Amino acid sequence: MMALSWNLQCFRNQWLSLRPLTLVLAVIGFFSVTESVVQTSLRGEVGQNVTFHCPSEKQRTIKLFYFQRDNKFVNGFHALKNVPEPWENTRLNKTAVQMFNLKVSHSGNYDCIIQYSDNQFAPTHIHLSVTANYSKPNVTISCDKNHGYSCLVICASQGGYPQRKMRWSGAVTGNTSSQMWKVLNSSEVPDPNTMLFNSSSTASFNCSYGEQKFLSCSVGNVTSELFNVCVPQEPADNSDDHSMIARVAAICAVVVVVIGLMFLKWTCRKQRQAGAAAGAVMPEEVIVLRGINKEEEAS
Ligand SMILES: *[C@@H]1O[C@H](CO)[C@@H](O)[C@H](O)[C@H]1NC(C)=O
Ligand SMILES: *[C@@H]1O[C@H](CO)[C@@H](O)[C@H](O)[C@H]1NC(C)=O
Ligand SMILES: *[C@@H]1O[C@H](CO)[C@@H](O)[C@H](O)[C@H]1NC(C)=O
Ligand SMILES: *[C@@H]1O[C@H](CO)[C@@H](O)[C@H](O)[C@H]1NC(C)=O
Ligand SMILES: *[C@@H]1O[C@H](CO)[C@@H](O)[C@H](O)[C@H]1NC(C)=O
Ligand SMILES: *[C@@H]1O[C@H](CO)[C@@H](O)[C@H](O)[C@H]1NC(C)=O
Repeated sequence: MMALSWNLQCFRNQWLSLRPLTLVLAVIGFFSVTESVVQTSLRGEVGQNVTFHCPSEKQRTIKLFYFQRDNKFVNGFHALKNVPEPWENTRLNKTAVQMFNLKVSHSGNYDCIIQYSDNQFAPTHIHLSVTANYSKPNVTISCDKNHGYSCLVICASQGGYPQRKMRWSGAVTGNTSSQMWKVLNSSEVPDPNTMLFNSSSTASFNCSYGEQKFLSCSVGNVTSELFNVCVPQEPADNSDDHSMIARVAAICAVVVVVIGLMFLKWTCRKQRQAGAAAGAVMPEEVIVLRGINKEEEAS
């Protein structure tokens, strides 16, 4: 008992002697946290909106809040002075900045600069990256039967960001693939104003390797419809004969089925009549009889 209480006393004395140090450490920790640079990133899509939330301490009075990019004013306020014209596509809500109708050019590094009435700075950097979905690739197939049957396929997609190459996929891989098909050219053309890319690719298919099924092309996360190339051509002028044959075949099939059903019905009736004549009991009749017998036993 003595040892335990002495140990507790000793621990208390040590704690008391350490207390000023922990206080100092806590204070240093507090300032290092508030003054350290909090880095966050935001993603937006072309035409959509984002909100930058600049972290601030609610209980302290803000003297100035500047939201800027590359040291240029975007939006903000100053308790005592006028501030420059804010960007047209931004609105301020305390220390949150909403940005509307995003363009690729809005991508970049932004800084939140907050000065409190007691002169503490708390800068924050926020990186914004603006992307745009490519349109679903449009597939154009044109075949040439004159120079050994071959097909030219163009996959084209518009208005995406960042730059992405058109990719081909499907059964067009394997040992013979290099003779079977080849990509003739690909291009990613940026629009000088919007910076959005049109991405396209042209491939030629050698049809002596037969039909190629379930092919597709994709750019970014968007994939085209599946398509087939080198599809065997149906002779068009025989189509009337074909439908005639089909109709005759269908009528014959119906006649055969009807005759078959009539024959089955006739044989069944024949069997039934033969059975009844011999005094035989059909299986379903046995079940019915048993049921009646049980009821009679119960009552
Ligand atoms: C300002 O932000 C608060 C929450 O931070 C929100 O409730 C309020 O609707 C916003 N005001 C406007 C005008 O957007
Ligand atoms: C872009 O594509 C993503 C999925 O990849 C989807 O969640 C988002 O809604 C699309 N954006 C637009 C503007 O269609
Ligand atoms: C790609 O190649 C095809 C066939 O040679 C040609 O018609 C087309 O203009 C080319 N496209 C580009 C962007 O060079
Ligand atoms: C991208 O494609 C669209 C639609 O085909 C076209 O109007 C536009 O001019 C193209 N842009 C570029 C930079 O080629
Ligand atoms: C297509 O492939 C066949 C067989 O390999 C070859 O003889 C022919 O020259 C090829 N055609 C073209 C246009 O490459
Ligand atoms: C593609 O989709 C994945 C998740 O489905 C997403 O993380 C990625 O950002 C998307 N990429 C593009 C270019 O849209």
